[in-house]
Amino acid sequence: MSKLKSWGRVAWAWVDERLGLQPAVDMVAEKTVPEHRHTFWYYWGGLSLFFFVTQVVTGLLLMVYYEPGENAYASVSKITNEINYGWLIRSIHSWSANLMLGAVFIHMFSVYFFRAYRKPREFGWWTGLGLLGAAMLFGFSGYLLPMDELAYFATRVGLAVPEIMPGAGPLITAIARGGTDVGAATVQRFFVLHVMLLPMAFMALLGLHLWMIQKHGNKLPPGEEEKPVSEQRSVKFVPNFMMRDAVAWLVALMLLVGLACFFPWKLGPPADPLAAAPEGIHPEWYFMSQFIVLKLLGKVLPGVIGEYLGVAIFTLGGVFWGLIPLLDPESAGGRRARLFTWIGLVAVIGFLFLTVLAYWLP
Ligand code: HEM
Repeated sequence: MSKLKSWGRVAWAWVDERLGLQPAVDMVAEKTVPEHRHTFWYYWGGLSLFFFVTQVVTGLLLMVYYEPGENAYASVSKITNEINYGWLIRSIHSWSANLMLGAVFIHMFSVYFFRAYRKPREFGWWTGLGLLGAAMLFGFSGYLLPMDELAYFATRVGLAVPEIMPGAGPLITAIARGGTDVGAATVQRFFVLHVMLLPMAFMALLGLHLWMIQKHGNKLPPGEEEKPVSEQRSVKFVPNFMMRDAVAWLVALMLLVGLACFFPWKLGPPADPLAAAPEGIHPEWYFMSQFIVLKLLGKVLPGVIGEYLGVAIFTLGGVFWGLIPLLDPESAGGRRARLFTWIGLVAVIGFLFLTVLAYWLP
């Protein structure tokens, strides 16, 4: 054994004697990942994680110069036009937010079709839904922070939705807005949400989420599970799968930097509450399916009935999606399982169709 290796062992023994970390190291060392023709879908949780880490690193760099409140627009303009590589960091942060949501949606639908929400993985599904909610709120709150024209009007439209919700809706909206209209106070509040509350909630949920996966391992998809154990293959997570994860992360990094450089994130004119709302105000793509449903229902139904109906549909849909592990349990037979495959297909196709429709309709 080389001298360096034996010194390493002595140092590790010294640390482990005090912190007792060996069981955790053993656990990771024993982790395996199943290998079959659908293994590709196991990369998407890790890719979501990669984009989140990118968000944290670039977000910290942006915070060095960003000023919430009255100076929000001026500080983002300075980051974009004056600070060295500020435009690049901002562009990576904004593109990575969108790619993260994309990766999370692909990950969610793939674990859905793998039936990875079934016993004993229910908490993986529920913590995952919490992470999706937090990721969408990250996007919504981040969108306002530059306080340009688009941010201002899109946030006004976005906040009108919780405002009509019965119960706590108006109170939550009043707290979030901090006044009668979106302004410097709103930016200040969204900033606290974006850089303090959401990261804390996200990290707690992520810790639980990753613990669940470590504890139960990756689920085999239907079709592979039924095969005899002698035909089921797997690879070690460390180092084999981790190296493949690293390749996926490098590809993601190339895509991200390419997008950020060739399509730098724009900063519009400063928000002007007295100006008329510009044409085509819309939220980020991951809110577009809800946006178009509200818009269409608002057109065909009188007054606020359309909006109420839209909010009721989303709420019920969200509750149903959360109850999936209980509605399609492990014991569910062939017919019920087929029904849930159809439900999943309708959900994916419906989401994609509505999103495309929202961009296509004037
Ligand atoms: C930023 C958000 C998320 C991150 C960082 C994340 C991360 C991960 C990682 C690293 C894995 C293990 C590798 C894999 O199977 O892909 C995983 C598995 C899993 N995730 Fe997520 N996830 C997120 C969101 C979600 C969402 C939205 C759901 C569903 C509602 C979800 C449900 C699950 C489930 C059920 C598993 C276990 C899969 C299995 O047993 O094979 N996750 N997640």
